[in-house]
Amino acid sequence: MNIDGNHYRTIWVHEDDPSCIRIIDQRKLPFELSLVDLRTAEETALAIKDMWVRGAGLIGAAAGYGMYLASLEAPDGPGFYPYMEKAADRLIKTRPTAKNLEWAVLRQLASMRNTAETDSRRRIAFATAAEIADEDADYCRRIGEHGLTLIRAIAAGKKGKPVEILTHCNAGWLAFVDYGSATSPVYAAFDEGIPVHVWVDETRPRNQGASLTAWELGKHGVPHHLIVDNAGGHLMQHGMVDMVITGADRVTAGGDAANKIGTYLKALAAKDNGVPFYVALPSSTFDWDIVDGVRDIPIEERDQDEVRYIRGLGSQGTASVLLCPETTEAKNYGFDVTPGRLITGLITERGICGADRKSLAALFPDKIKG
Ligand code: MRU
Repeated sequence: MNIDGNHYRTIWVHEDDPSCIRIIDQRKLPFELSLVDLRTAEETALAIKDMWVRGAGLIGAAAGYGMYLASLEAPDGPGFYPYMEKAADRLIKTRPTAKNLEWAVLRQLASMRNTAETDSRRRIAFATAAEIADEDADYCRRIGEHGLTLIRAIAAGKKGKPVEILTHCNAGWLAFVDYGSATSPVYAAFDEGIPVHVWVDETRPRNQGASLTAWELGKHGVPHHLIVDNAGGHLMQHGMVDMVITGADRVTAGGDAANKIGTYLKALAAKDNGVPFYVALPSSTFDWDIVDGVRDIPIEERDQDEVRYIRGLGSQGTASVLLCPETTEAKNYGFDVTPGRLITGLITERGICGADRKSLAALFPDKIKG
């Protein structure tokens, strides 16, 4: 998408060196646009774990390229595939909640399985990584087209006033390869000239809303305001939210959606206030093997210091400051699960459907049986 008039993706192959992958280092945003080169599978695993890259689609694409880098390191002959399996295990374990990561790694392993010759395997790994990234961008673009129909319908009743959209965390283009999931319909509506305004939850503890969503909406010119995480219910009670659109990190075959911690509370508030609550996702985010998300989706727990400290820009540059007594311990659950019954619809690359098994089976008959 747009950064000061230039088109960027979040990940790409280095223009002069096909054995090197470039990423935007998201730890530095919004204060600095910094590009980093990844040269090994291990560097890629660390970039995912420490959230230089983050967001469901992007960690899937990064893991796809990580597997390609692993294929360049793997020995010729019988040691090749075991090396790849070990790299796959390492990458999958970096972050447990988003399905896209495991999906991309297993797709890479499967793509190489039936070829014996090492150079062919490397070519396949390169092509598969590119396919995963391109598909992610294409699916997100299509999510935008489908979600646009919802925004158009709301705009028709607003007599020129902006459609008020609330989002949580960053399910923007920075969370994918391009376009984003939750923000893709917003960009499509804005580009079509529909007045839109976005309420951006700051999204403690890492503040992806404040540092990433606000930044990318600003770069595209989309009107928005940053709000504290607990403001959404108040805004909904006062008729100031027309719809909620969030992303997802894993969605079950029953329509339950894991997303950044705090999403569930927004869905409850939306239900209580009759505000439609949509979850936007590419099909790589579905976990077709499970139904009950509260019971079966693994929830990542991260370092307590992400809660105890907050990062920002001071007069000496960026710094982290302690928020609580030095001895206070914190718990840091990264995600929560919103049950399908609280979700108005799932916006996917194939179209929009209810968040329940029957509706999903109708849209994805190749994945689940009704
Ligand atoms: O921890 P992150 O930043 O990788 O979390 C993922 C997210 O950004 C959100 O949960 C998002 O809404 C879904 S990812 C498209």
